[in-house]
Amino acid sequence: MRLLVTGGAGFIGANFVRNAVRERPDVRVTVLDSLTYAGSREALADVDSAIRLVEGDITDGAVVGKLVADSDAVVHFAAETHVDNALADPEPFVHSNVLGTFTILEAVRHASSSKAVRLHHISTDEVYGDLALGDPGRFTESTPYNPSSPYSSTKAAADLLVRAWVRSYGVAATLSNCSNNYGPFQHVEKFIPRQITNVLTGRRPKLYGTGANVRDWIHVDDHNSAVWRILSHGAIGRTYLIGADGERDNLSVMRMILRLMDRSPDDFDHVVDRAGHDLRYAIDATPLRDELGWQPARTDFETGLRDTIAWYRENQSWWGPLKDAVETTYEERRQ
Ligand code: NAD
Ligand code: TYD
Repeated sequence: MRLLVTGGAGFIGANFVRNAVRERPDVRVTVLDSLTYAGSREALADVDSAIRLVEGDITDGAVVGKLVADSDAVVHFAAETHVDNALADPEPFVHSNVLGTFTILEAVRHASSSKAVRLHHISTDEVYGDLALGDPGRFTESTPYNPSSPYSSTKAAADLLVRAWVRSYGVAATLSNCSNNYGPFQHVEKFIPRQITNVLTGRRPKLYGTGANVRDWIHVDDHNSAVWRILSHGAIGRTYLIGADGERDNLSVMRMILRLMDRSPDDFDHVVDRAGHDLRYAIDATPLRDELGWQPARTDFETGLRDTIAWYRENQSWWGPLKDAVETTYEERRQ
């Protein structure tokens, strides 16, 4: 299979590509990534000789058209992904997430007139907005879209484009909306790596507001195993929610990081809360488990977090050069 992976130099995409090279010798991977601040060649260094990495933008119709024409399947990870950045400057989110997905869809539509091309579009549970704290409900694939942030609204727009291209043009696409990922190679701007690397660089970890907000954590390898299952067995046009029953409030995650790093439980700062901060995300992944037989393997959060802390300890050469700039930006925003 000739597989095109957009955003394959980012956190989830790079883990996906590395696993694919290791576990699927029948797959030939091409990565299309514009190597924004969030993309890194280094994340793909140890599979460098097994893949082709094309540096290009997903809004470049000529580049995308050619690569899609040479592919049997496309997994579309590329996006601007950080809510705080979206609040500060939403324009790149509209560009990459909306126009980029449109460009991919048009390329798949045109290539599909002469051969079969399968598309899997990666999205987020944030398109559903948020749930109340203590509400027993969880997101399902029929929860109405109600995005809160410039990030989630552009992801929602992209999802709706994919659905329309399936219905109107017969594009052979599936979609997935996953909860919060953690694991190696996550950018240090995000919650878990930011706190780990704050401790490792002698800074105090930073908690937004009271820390009551809940996220539904999943290890990146479990997200990616679900993506493979959907790509190979999912029904065209379907949306699958991906989650591993990992709900935790931010304060508890912060305290677990501090304990695993031998710091005292109050060794962090409360900082100004995020504007419009979504309260709680929670995924009901029953259809993925029952219909496609998917099971997450890394459901012990404490073990996953310990492994992730160890990875950041051992890979300072990867994240070290990014850290100061990220913290300077946060200081300017008083976060
Ligand atoms: P990331 O920010 O770590 O990586 C994004 C990658 O996309 C980078 O390599 C970047 O260079 C590339 N990119 C951005 N704009 C591009 C453009 N215009 N053209 C080409 N490449 C471009 O993101 P991530 O956390 O790996 O997320 C990947 C996907 O998964 C996104 O679609 C995101 O919405 C979705 N998702 C993420 C999470 C999460 O917890 N991180 C959860 C659910 C869904
Ligand atoms: P984040 O990793 O930005 O993911 P998302 O907002 O897309 O879920 O943040 C996860 C949670 O952690 C979110 O509730 C905001 C909070 N947060 C902090 O408390 N401190 C931080 O330094 C960051 C970056 C996030």
